[in-house]
Amino acid sequence: MKIFHDFDLSRVTTFHIPATARIYAEYESIGELYMLLNAPEYAGMPRLHIGGGSNLLFTGRFDGLVMHSAIKEITVIDDNGRQVYLKVSAGVNWDDFVRYCVDHELYGAENLSYIPGEAGASAVQNVGAYGVEAKDIIDSVHTVDSSTGETRVFKAEECGYGYRNSIFKQAGYAGRHIVTDVVYRLSREKHFTLDYGPLKELADHSSNLTLKAVRDRVIEIRRNKLPKPDELGSAGSFFKNPVVSTEKFEQLKADYPSIPSYPADGGIKIPAAWLIENTGMKGRSIGGAQVYTKQCLVIVNTGNATAADVVSLYGEIKEKVAAKFGITLSPEVNIIGRL
Ligand code: EPU
Repeated sequence: MKIFHDFDLSRVTTFHIPATARIYAEYESIGELYMLLNAPEYAGMPRLHIGGGSNLLFTGRFDGLVMHSAIKEITVIDDNGRQVYLKVSAGVNWDDFVRYCVDHELYGAENLSYIPGEAGASAVQNVGAYGVEAKDIIDSVHTVDSSTGETRVFKAEECGYGYRNSIFKQAGYAGRHIVTDVVYRLSREKHFTLDYGPLKELADHSSNLTLKAVRDRVIEIRRNKLPKPDELGSAGSFFKNPVVSTEKFEQLKADYPSIPSYPADGGIKIPAAWLIENTGMKGRSIGGAQVYTKQCLVIVNTGNATAADVVSLYGEIKEKVAAKFGITLSPEVNIIGRL
């Protein structure tokens, strides 16, 4: 186990924004996780479990214990010839898992290529892209209760999955159930999800289309639109795409005939990137924080951004979108600390 005091969190978050944690602990076995949970020196401290740090903004010092899993195992636990169940430890890099599936001719994860983060967080955040969400391939989620030490397996149906949401983000569950492993259900039967705009052209070649070709196309799209994690700090989409009522959408459509939209549970989903771009915020910067010019949903750290810069820009975007469109944006990024 590795334990650090006054740890610089910019090293373990993709935003690379300065913030510290009183204690940062990286465990290499479940036994070590239990040691951390039971250690008297950390009892009563605020605790936070993180994954790849790709969806996090710390607004200041975290005066407590930050935990991270360094366990990286992928095990086939069942294979009935049609479906393969893979048990993947929380600390496995998400894209390593997707690559594993593609290399082993397993269908279902390929549209989720090149998303930063780790397997454990995929089950909390229900990551999604290009018409597929993690929930579509999650069979069950293995957890340890941080207060009692009990293990519990949640079947996917019990996880309350929605758009970038799960039971693990709700009060009473968040911070309590630590995800140790996720069981994914992949298919050996050839099938693709190609409804999303830029993937549609692949559908024309679907008879000889390969998993590798879909993965390569997704990576290419993401590389073109989203900042490369090692080059430009960000936490991916900063906001969720809002869902509005049909009435609200009709009003907006009357004023802005070109507004893009998608049907969604409970109403109509509007790309937040379009709303932000249409308030004239593309490229707007405060200090080192900037609305990314290739994808307005992303706030980037152009080098020396502070959490205060990001928070100010976040506030300005929210205000401008609310004033112009009457829509309140909510963050997709988990903001830790005071706003
Ligand atoms: N658009 C603009 N301006 C921009 C960018 C996009 O007007 O600067 C409009 C365009 O009309 C475009 C539409 O927004 O057609 C949708 O854009 P895009 O396809 O890039 O997707 P998104 O809705 O902005 C969501 C996810 C992404 C995911 C993509 C692809 C959320 C919050 N974001 O973005 O996920 O990769 O779809 O499926 O749902 C993430 O969660 O961090 C993330 C990157």
